[in-house]
Amino acid sequence: MNRFDVAIVGSGLAGLTVALHLARDKKVVVITKRALLDGASNWAQGGIAAVLDSHDSYDRHVADTLTAGAGLCDEIAARHIVESGAAAIRWLIDEGVPFTRDETAELGFHLTREGGHSQRRIIHAADATGHQVQLTLEQKVRAHPNITLLENHFAVELITRGKRGRLAGAPGADDNAGDLTRCLGLYVLDDARDRVETILADHTVLATGGAGKVYLHTSNPDTSTGDGIAMAWRAGCRVSNMEFMQFHPTCLYHPSAKSFLISEAVRGEGGILRIPANADVDAGMRFMVNHDARLELAPRDVVARAIDFEIKKRGLNYVELDITHRPPAFIEEHFPTILARCRSLGIDITRQPIPVVPAMHFTCGGIVTDLNGRTDIPNLYAVGETACTGLHGANRLASNSLLECLVIGRNVAQSIESQAASAALADVVVPDWDDSRVVDEDEAVVISHAWDEVRRLMWNYVGIVRTGKRLARARHRVDLLLDEIAAYYRAYRVSGGMLECRNLIQVAALVVESAQSRKESRGLHYCQDYPRTLPKALPTVLTPGLRISR
Ligand code: SIN
Repeated sequence: MNRFDVAIVGSGLAGLTVALHLARDKKVVVITKRALLDGASNWAQGGIAAVLDSHDSYDRHVADTLTAGAGLCDEIAARHIVESGAAAIRWLIDEGVPFTRDETAELGFHLTREGGHSQRRIIHAADATGHQVQLTLEQKVRAHPNITLLENHFAVELITRGKRGRLAGAPGADDNAGDLTRCLGLYVLDDARDRVETILADHTVLATGGAGKVYLHTSNPDTSTGDGIAMAWRAGCRVSNMEFMQFHPTCLYHPSAKSFLISEAVRGEGGILRIPANADVDAGMRFMVNHDARLELAPRDVVARAIDFEIKKRGLNYVELDITHRPPAFIEEHFPTILARCRSLGIDITRQPIPVVPAMHFTCGGIVTDLNGRTDIPNLYAVGETACTGLHGANRLASNSLLECLVIGRNVAQSIESQAASAALADVVVPDWDDSRVVDEDEAVVISHAWDEVRRLMWNYVGIVRTGKRLARARHRVDLLLDEIAAYYRAYRVSGGMLECRNLIQVAALVVESAQSRKESRGLHYCQDYPRTLPKALPTVLTPGLRISR
């Protein structure tokens, strides 16, 4: 049994922000299921949105966020996060993040623009912002004497204790959702030793990222399997707005490039979306003129739907994103990663348009939290893509996500610090993980089939354009998969693949249930049976053991 002041699950920007803000005074463990840099933060290209120039204002950034969010954002959350942005960026600069410089700018850093933003306000490190941020913070985390880093450790289940002293999450324990006094920590699978360990902590923070892998095509890394959302749900937390799965309009279309994003900043810097040059009709046409007055800089839901429409109507495999009118030196300076990756695949983006398609990119909903990251379970926090503070509403504004990780991450740390050290753990007895009644998996193919099935059905039936019939089909299949994976989990010794698959299916079920309950189209949720947007915007809130509440 290992005891810490704070256990953080996830090593993306949210998790590392919490860890570094707490480590001066607390003993912290960061638990991550692969290597520290393997999460989605490391893949973030565009940058971090913040008001960093006197021509910009908080009101404008808030207004852009609310517009993109299609009426569903929590304005208080948006204002708090926006107004805390500059201090969060200052922290990163002080930590040494090498943002792209522009000596003519007020702050000395280049600010780019992305869809839905009325101003240039995205601070970035060329087109590899997440990578540079993560590299910088990784060094600090690895060097910190108060931070224990457990890589290749999968979170299995949260451990909670109820009012009557009952434990949940432990093998054979009661499922006491609704009777929760606090979170005590979690069980983790040490992949190398193939052993489940108990981690006890005064405070547990879920910073596990989103659930992009629930769809067949995604810009997310393999780690995005919704682990935190699924674990928190099983432990008794509410989740909100899970129908709002954001599709990024422009992922590279190439048989050997899985999940490679073409940053929205390419459109921000003038990239034009065109019908492919080899199409029979309208070859080379700038089709966004037929969809939205903001053209390529309309919010993501609008651009992704427009591309989906053109691809389906014309029977295309992709559309093209053209930045060839910008000088090669500019492209090299601002998009070195995209340039190099495309070049390695035989596409010279200084001379050729880039074939692109939409792909699942960001989970706007998640575990319900307040602005201090507090969930429904005392001593359990959630932060970043796994959480739902209300900032993103029905559609996240580009580059607001890293901002949220930084601001809420710091709030979580402050909230934990402000609480007196708890004596409660001293007398807690939590049983070790008991796998005496399960056997080794004998047919791992069941897991790979279930993975494939859930991702395909979500892509086909719960995608950019939805219908009641498609959602009902998805529901039927997801319910079967939920039963199957539950039986599998009870019968076999846990493995990383099994845990991820179980979480993925749980999240799929939450997405489908949320989508079925929304009888309108709003932001990222477009349902042909309910094309109108209702006058009143209400979040979808799912409560374990209860039906939908709005
Ligand atoms: C991008 O570079 O397009 C991604 C930025 C984001 O998702 O906010």
